[in-house]
Amino acid sequence: MDDLQVLILAAGKSTRMKSKYAKVLHRVGGRTLIEHLVRAARNVTNDISIVIGHSGDAVRAVVPDVKFIEQKEQLGTGHAVLVARENFLGYSGNVLVMPGDVPLISSQTLSSFVRFHREGGFQASVLTADLENPAAYGRIVRQKNDEVLSIVEQRDATPEILKIHEINSGVYIFRAAPLFESLSKIRNENAQREYYLTDVIGILAAQKQKVGASKAQLAEEVLGINTRAELAAVDRIMRRQTCERLMEAGVTIIDPGSTYIDADVEIAPDTVIYPAVQIYGPTVIGEDVTIHSFSRITNSKIGARTTVLEGCVVNNSSVGEDVSLGPFSHLRFDVTVGDKAKIGNFVELKKTDLGAGSKSQHLAYLGDATIGKDVNIGAGVITCNYDGFKKHPTVIEDGAFVGTDSQLIAPVRIGKDAYVAAGSSITDDVPPESLAIARGRQVVKDGWVKQKRKK
Ligand code: UD1
Ligand code: CA
Repeated sequence: MDDLQVLILAAGKSTRMKSKYAKVLHRVGGRTLIEHLVRAARNVTNDISIVIGHSGDAVRAVVPDVKFIEQKEQLGTGHAVLVARENFLGYSGNVLVMPGDVPLISSQTLSSFVRFHREGGFQASVLTADLENPAAYGRIVRQKNDEVLSIVEQRDATPEILKIHEINSGVYIFRAAPLFESLSKIRNENAQREYYLTDVIGILAAQKQKVGASKAQLAEEVLGINTRAELAAVDRIMRRQTCERLMEAGVTIIDPGSTYIDADVEIAPDTVIYPAVQIYGPTVIGEDVTIHSFSRITNSKIGARTTVLEGCVVNNSSVGEDVSLGPFSHLRFDVTVGDKAKIGNFVELKKTDLGAGSKSQHLAYLGDATIGKDVNIGAGVITCNYDGFKKHPTVIEDGAFVGTDSQLIAPVRIGKDAYVAAGSSITDDVPPESLAIARGRQVVKDGWVKQKRKK
């Protein structure tokens, strides 16, 4: 749609959030507010400009392929649009203006709002909603013919106007020419001493220009975030939406209220998620998987029929099918686990490949290791991968058996089907099909206690 461009206002600091970061950098549903807005906007146009100010560089870093305009001093929403004027010189189409703090807005709502504006032949349109508690939102004052007369900020409103429940979402579409013409007329004579974009609506209506208002079907979509409490409330709504979408698609979520799943997570049908599970980032989970309580899975893949028992932490890792993980396993930083493997209590894997059918069931640290198929790692085995200066690799070939409480001092290789005796400190490679024993021999002193007593 080449007669439509989007302008997002994101320069404000977060006074009410009491934060040193720009408001639009705070996160809900796993993404920053500005990312949510840009995603929704992309469905109506790729021509997107963002007004930045506070933490401008950080905002630039999270959203690629958009234009930025700097508002050095934040003098109000009207001033922010005025600063962006240079980006619209010679442009006579429509400008869809959005605040940076309404992350629940859907692309469907934006599309139907664009349709409303076009079909009604309006010079300006406002997206509104009926809220039971209109709180601090600007109120919509309509004319007899249903068109908009003005928008009044809560702080400037009379008791009569405060009774209005239809609020301004802060999302508007303007024809570019009348927008910038009336912006040059706004003043900051109001409670906040700011240049209000909302005043443009009143100016246009006074000139008998057609100003429309379209009510969002789902009022919660236009909820703005100004405080930490509102941030939490919107996050809760997003989580609920994600859980509902997943349940609709065949996933059992035993307690959606205590389940934290990011919007980008994919989960196949017949998987069961127990209470108090967290799944973040672009994680993909297969079918018939069971994830028990207090586990946190981030940026990872979990194969079909795998069971994740209580208290596991899985980061940036790929777990195969029919695996059993936990309780209390920690996979971090590029771990691959093959099908049918077993990883148990207090086992930590870092930058390690564990082959199909291999087991490490109790108390182990496996770091920078390449471990083949059907390997048995006994309780308490440690790869000593760090010498204080550098990390070194450990290789354990298929079918090897590493006895309990052994240390493998890297770099070192355990050959195919080899055995390492329990309690060994392995410093040299172990050839295939051999047994390595590397520990002090046991000495038994008969009658030692009796002799000691005599002294
Ligand atoms: C605004 C509207 C209000 C509406 C509400 C909806 C005005 C005057 N009021 O109020 O009618 O109900 O949104 O959520 O517009 N910003 C800048 N530069 C500035 C000031 C603000 O870029 O100088 C940006 C902010 O970063 C934010 C957006 O504009 O993303 C809205 O500003 P905010 O201060 O949150 O406006 P509200 O008081 O919520
Ligand atoms: Ca706001």
